[in-house]
Amino acid sequence: MAQKKLIRFAEIETFPNVLQHPQNVAGTWNKFFINNNLIVLELACGKGEYTLGLSHLYPDKNFIGVDIKGNRLWVGAKKALQQKLENVAFLRIQIDEINEYFGSGEVSEIWITFPDPQLRISKSKKRLTHPKFLRLYQQILSADGRIHLKTDSPELYNFTKQVIELYKCILHTDIDDVQTQKDIHPALEITTHYESLNISQSNKVHYLSFSLPRILPGIEMDKLLHAKFKEQNAATDVINMESGITRDDEEDLYYFNDSGLIIFTEEYLLNRGYCCGSGCTNCPYDYKAVPEPQRTILLTKRKNAKEKNSQ
Ligand SMILES: C[S@@+](CC[C@H](N)C(=O)[O-])C[C@H]1O[C@@H](n2cnc3c(N)ncnc32)[C@H](O)[C@@H]1O
Repeated sequence: MAQKKLIRFAEIETFPNVLQHPQNVAGTWNKFFINNNLIVLELACGKGEYTLGLSHLYPDKNFIGVDIKGNRLWVGAKKALQQKLENVAFLRIQIDEINEYFGSGEVSEIWITFPDPQLRISKSKKRLTHPKFLRLYQQILSADGRIHLKTDSPELYNFTKQVIELYKCILHTDIDDVQTQKDIHPALEITTHYESLNISQSNKVHYLSFSLPRILPGIEMDKLLHAKFKEQNAATDVINMESGITRDDEEDLYYFNDSGLIIFTEEYLLNRGYCCGSGCTNCPYDYKAVPEPQRTILLTKRKNAKEKNSQ
């Protein structure tokens, strides 16, 4: 595992604002924050841009960023500590188990920010607005609780609209293109890491806000939803199956440098298992297969950069 990740994993253990798979916390969050303010969640928070941004906009509410990736949570948690934000916490768990960590009606709002759209038909149950998840959210949301989805994926946006309609949810706001909207709410101006990547290349950010009905339709409706979904997505599923990579995996595989060039991560190159000889920026094999004199040039460049960084 990359050194940076290991350092973050060790450090996050000591952060007072991060709880990793805690036990018996359902119903106790107001004690944790030492106030009776409303609790708002950001699911799939990654580096927690919404958790931090909303905490500044609404200092009289408590915000909890939820994600399974500790090295990403570290980024938001570190900033919250540096900014001395007392209304922010991070919870490292699987969202699939969210109902074990909050009591009935303990949560007033849920933000879902740029989650993986899970484009393959076989993965549709992993979409965080799938009824399977809505049933979990219903267990922890207050009666008038709201769900907010912000996504750049037209597929996830349309899927969620279909769910809202079929499951008789109450739609409050539907914005097809946040960026071109006039007088947008300050909460929608917060941008996230994945938002800036524009992975879907749709150049649009969609936003939906809705509440759940008192009783959500059951399994029969799920069957109908899946039949519709399959029908609508049969053609594109072939493409998605070929790639097999979720946008979440992608971040661990590569990133873009300042010139917009794609750079493979050390983790990816280690997994590949050999030096390809192209002189990759993060080559973990000391450029073994790069011909001379290029190899020596690259090694010297790397040594100089290391020395400069350690000064
Ligand atoms: C595409 S990233 C978005 C991160 C962030 N919201 C942003 O916009 O930059 C999706 C995030 O969801 C998290 N995630 C996906 N499924 C999850 C699950 N079932 N439980 C916990 N975290 C999950 C991943 O770890 C990842 O950080």
